[in-house]
Amino acid sequence: MTQPTPGAAPRRFPSDFLWGAATSSYQIEGAVGEDGRGPSIWDTFARRPGAVVNGENGDVAIDHYHRSADDVKLMAGLGLNAYRFSVAWPRIQPTGSGAVNQAGLDFYKRLTDQLRDAGIAPALTLYHWDLPQPLQDAGGWPNRDTAHRFAEYAGIVAEALGDRVDLWITLNESWCAAYLGHLSGEHAPGVKDPAQALASVHTLNLAHGLGAAAVREKAGAAARIAISHNLQVNRAHTDAPDDRAAKTRLDLVNNEILLQPQLNGVYPEGLFEATARFTDWSFVRTGDLEIINAPLDAMGLNYYSTATVRAGEDPDRDPFQPTLVEGVARVRPEGEYTEMGWLVEPRGLTDLLLDIHRRRPGLPLYITENGAAFDDTVAADGRVHDDRRTAYLHAHLDAVGRALDAGANVKGYFAWSLFDNFEWSYGYGKRFGIVHVDYDTQVRTVKDSGRWYSQVASSGELPP
Ligand code: NOJ
Repeated sequence: MTQPTPGAAPRRFPSDFLWGAATSSYQIEGAVGEDGRGPSIWDTFARRPGAVVNGENGDVAIDHYHRSADDVKLMAGLGLNAYRFSVAWPRIQPTGSGAVNQAGLDFYKRLTDQLRDAGIAPALTLYHWDLPQPLQDAGGWPNRDTAHRFAEYAGIVAEALGDRVDLWITLNESWCAAYLGHLSGEHAPGVKDPAQALASVHTLNLAHGLGAAAVREKAGAAARIAISHNLQVNRAHTDAPDDRAAKTRLDLVNNEILLQPQLNGVYPEGLFEATARFTDWSFVRTGDLEIINAPLDAMGLNYYSTATVRAGEDPDRDPFQPTLVEGVARVRPEGEYTEMGWLVEPRGLTDLLLDIHRRRPGLPLYITENGAAFDDTVAADGRVHDDRRTAYLHAHLDAVGRALDAGANVKGYFAWSLFDNFEWSYGYGKRFGIVHVDYDTQVRTVKDSGRWYSQVASSGELPP
């Protein structure tokens, strides 16, 4: 990890920099059966035996639905000037289409009002994986109609909250929604089918374009629209042509498949050939790429780690797990790993920011997630001494500073996560929060990393 340089001066960030933290609806809200919320694919998936560690689910989560006012006070106390959260689609349209549930909209109106009153800029994600179950029953993301349903929903939220939101994020990590949901099956809806995974990618791309247009129409010209990606920072193990080719094959189906249509209005060269054994891509219709290539005001990047790969068969690969790319093996470099088994590599964040800056010079960039899971415990003194998380945040903020120095237009940073919460198929065992949550009592305790981050956010300065 990058070590602080002794004697160096603090790094001053731009005065309009957003210092935030992020969460998502299913991971924190609970109250899944209240005020007219309909079921989502995660309510269903979490009940499937073996899907989530210990059979846990988001029924209660950290009870944010009932505690939002106090949670906003806590953010204000930390000195944050931005908060990224997601709207639960099944609260707004319990069946995924048609009738609007006013109580759902009211919850987010109250939340955004509370945030604004506290001087905290709302960054709203429209889709963070809780698809209304009835839309799954109608075919889910592999069905292009879901993109139209998403646009309708996006328009409803934009009309209701258009004057309250500083940054609109259409989709969170469409890579996960498509591939963890439909290829590895680790996430809802738990499908393992390459053809469905690739169809989902296209519907999600289309949903982004249609959703962006709907927000633009309903929230007014001042709305700032982005998408949050978890692009993979892949590294070739060696400079050998085979290893480099392995990395390129991986980049194609993981990154280029999202970025090129969104930024340039084309699917990348070689993609259709590379995936021809799974699909003929006949679901792409004339005009889709123009829609997907909707104007972007910013891009959100969720960054945690890098992946090093080499050519060859992966001895650890589960033969029953489908893959889009053959002949690529993961390498596990020496270094520090988090509780998720993810390598700590801050330099990857600088590289990622500069890569997007190179593709679209000057595009405003936000780190919409960055953080680490560690085994935290509340100490006898009542505090959580999570020094490794502080070091992680420190090194990654320094990496952001380096990208700024090199010209990238980075406008803000959101720590993942504000709170410990439901970490999807890992359940509650993996703690990412800068605020600890006792899941029995729902007591929130700011961790040492949260205290540290609060200092940085309040001063706008990163210590050396
Ligand atoms: C990405 C996802 O957006 C978020 O929901 C998740 O908890 C974090 N990464 C950590 O895995």
